[in-house]
Order: sequence, then structure tokens, then C-alpha cells
Amino acid sequence: MTADLFPPDSELSLAPGALLLPGLALDQAGVLLDAVNAVTAAAALRQLHTPGGQLMQVAMSNCGDLGWVSDARGYRYQAHDPLTGRAWPTMPALIKQLAAAAAQRAGFADFDPDACLINRYLPGNRLSLHQDRDEQDYSQPIVSISLGLPAVFLFGGLTRADKPARLTLQHGDVLVWGGPSRLRFHGVQPLAAGEHPLLGACRINLTLRRAN
Ligand code: SIN
Ligand code: FE2
Repeated sequence: MTADLFPPDSELSLAPGALLLPGLALDQAGVLLDAVNAVTAAAALRQLHTPGGQLMQVAMSNCGDLGWVSDARGYRYQAHDPLTGRAWPTMPALIKQLAAAAAQRAGFADFDPDACLINRYLPGNRLSLHQDRDEQDYSQPIVSISLGLPAVFLFGGLTRADKPARLTLQHGDVLVWGGPSRLRFHGVQPLAAGEHPLLGACRINLTLRRAN
């Protein structure tokens, strides 16, 4: 367990601008999950199509002023859920505050995310190597909160050819990447089967960004 391996306020610098905060969200995991469940009750998790027409394995939803979507027209942020036509649910204050605190620890003061992407991985689901480039301002970091089953996160370099480091993200871990690491390629290896006491056979990842 991460909580046993690292003291509660430990951190691991991965690269300039990239910081792993093991277990930072552990104490709040239950309330975070309640907040996520309230969001996905209003804006259902769904598998999106890539612009090329492939069905993504990971199911997604959003909260905040803007949500990330993908379809035949491309990748983008938009203020409305395409499933319902309604605004995305408000970003729960708890999630926003946790992300801002994590960003602060990594040296990014005043991070004020307007978009929170919710990713749901079931065993076997993967996310291929990509860069996050749909945001306006690359000086703002990305904050990732992991809940549920552990995943092997691939943390690459600034070109696709750079061999990624493999990093296990456990329930409650928070990862920040920004500054010189903001455009690093990253992805998730196929989720291994398992049962998490809170989430069952599932991993939920929240990524918070300043999109606009
Ligand atoms: C993402 O790149 O948007 C998600 C990464 C993750 O699930 O850890
Ligand atoms: Fe990403």
C-alpha cells in the first residue's frame, strides 16, 4: 500500500515540473467518490469516438465550466454535455481545492482549473500515449487524482519516441505535471484485473486543467 511505503506528506520529484504526491487524496477518497458519483449521475460516463472513428476504451465524463470531448469533428473543450445539451455539472469545491493544493506543492501557485475530466478504466482498458494540447495556456499544470485499482502510468518525454517511465499510480495518489513537463507524452497501460474495496473492478482518474 502506498500509505505504508510513503509517509503521508511525502513527495517524489519525477522531472522538472512533475511531482508525485503519494496518498495525498487518501483521507478524502470517500467524499471524492461521492462527489464523482453525483457528477456522473447527471452527466453519464460514456465512451467517446476518436476523430478517426475509433471507440475509446476509457469511459469519460466531465465537471466544471468546460468539458473535454472527442468526436468526428475533433478533440475540444465545450461548455455543454453533448449527450444532454446541458452545462456540465459544477466542479465540486473539494476536487478543485485538492487540485490547487497539489499544484501549489509542485510550484504552481494560483492554479484555478475550469475543467475536470473523469476517466473510468475497467480491467483491460488502456489509454494510448498522447500529449494534452487542447488547452489555451501551457503555463498551467495538469493535476491527476487516482482512485480505485492501481494503474501503470506511462510518463514519457517531449517526443513520442522517448521511452516512457512506468509509474504505478495507487488509490489516493496525486500527480502534477506542468512547466517544462507540461507537454510530456503520457498514457495508461491496460488495467490489471482486481477488486478495490471502495470501487470494485474499476479505476477512476480525475484530471484537472485550465482549458481556457
Ligand atoms: C489522461 O491522460 O487524461 C488520464 C491519465 C490517467 O488516467 O492517469
Ligand atoms: Fe492526458
